[in-house]
Amino acid sequence: MVLPGLVEPDGLIVRRRPIPTAAAGQALIRVEASGVSFAEQGMRRGRYPGQPKFPFVPGYDLVGTVAAVGPGVDAALLGTRVAALTKTGGWTSHAVLAANTLVPVPAGVGPAEAETVVVNGLTAWGLLHRKARVRRGQTVLVHGANGGVGTVLVQLARHAGVRVIGAASPRHHDALRALGVEPVDYADPDALVARVRELAPGGVDAVFDNIGGATLHRSWQLLAPGGTLVSYAIASATKGTGALAPRFIALLARLAAWTMLPNKGRRATFYHVWSGHRMHAARFRAHLRQDLSTVLGLLADGTLTAEIGARFPLAEVGAAMRLAESHTVRGKVVLLP
Ligand SMILES: NC(=O)c1ccc[n+]([C@@H]2O[C@H](COP(=O)([O-])OP(=O)(O)OC[C@H]3O[C@@H](n4cnc5c(N)ncnc54)[C@H](OP(=O)(O)O)[C@@H]3O)[C@@H](O)[C@H]2O)c1
Repeated sequence: MVLPGLVEPDGLIVRRRPIPTAAAGQALIRVEASGVSFAEQGMRRGRYPGQPKFPFVPGYDLVGTVAAVGPGVDAALLGTRVAALTKTGGWTSHAVLAANTLVPVPAGVGPAEAETVVVNGLTAWGLLHRKARVRRGQTVLVHGANGGVGTVLVQLARHAGVRVIGAASPRHHDALRALGVEPVDYADPDALVARVRELAPGGVDAVFDNIGGATLHRSWQLLAPGGTLVSYAIASATKGTGALAPRFIALLARLAAWTMLPNKGRRATFYHVWSGHRMHAARFRAHLRQDLSTVLGLLADGTLTAEIGARFPLAEVGAAMRLAESHTVRGKVVLLP
């Protein structure tokens, strides 16, 4: 599925090409599942930092079976189910990827289920355990608690013994309660702040903020002494106009300033799932493998539930994107080639 330029969700094009061949160090994957991430909402608008030039194949991650391996790759990989973080290129029937970036999917975990925790699981784990370093007994606020990342994040936090307040539309509140979350509505920002203060009068130990703008300031104000604000996107800027780079620079400067000023030991930081992949490639791959294996293991043993918002055939990606952008979905919209 090719994103040809700035288009509405129905503007993606099916292209047919010969199946690629795995070169040295690579594996050919027969894709069994990919998914719609928030990133593609930005990419189709030309508003995802660092996206490739049009045309390109989107698809932030994939799950599939190894169909062939290139020279130098262990033949034992053949026929195994693997997961991969791609950023782009996942919306395809076959993909050639570096074999050392593939992570085995445990037996018994289906492709659609595994798909819900690839970029979302890596991100959620990184936010919780690599950035905020949450501890049992703490309280956190999760914005976007019904989203793809959010539904994994709240489950991982509960598993770590953390109390979770989750911001989401009321339509999702019962389902979030079933995951052990205390839901709050985000429609009225002042009401959200008041409700969080009521639930956590001393402040929360961490806030996970993908919204940015005025929400980020409120997130910082809601932190307890010693707490951590982890910003990880500016969703509020995805549909806007104007250059994104200055907004990101201003965001990073704001987080640094908050951390440096006297602030009762509070810390503000930014998380990016790709951070370090160029400068520290080997360490990046090791963390990716370790974190994704852990999260897939928690899915396999039933600790995590795969929150699948909807399943679509890959060729119906336009409908899948429209649903993903409808502000009605809980969990991950999965694409099946
Ligand atoms: N930094 C990283 O490494 C990294 C990695 C992966 C994802 N992300 C970010 O993580 C976020 C979630 O990604 P996803 O794929 O899970 O997306 P998703 O499934 O579409 O979920 C988006 C969530 O954010 C909420 N949201 C969006 N715009 C909002 C706004 N203006 N105000 C309040 N809530 C809003 C949505 O609520 P409604 O359903 O009510 O609209 C939903 O809960 C995105 O912002 C994405 O860019 C960052």
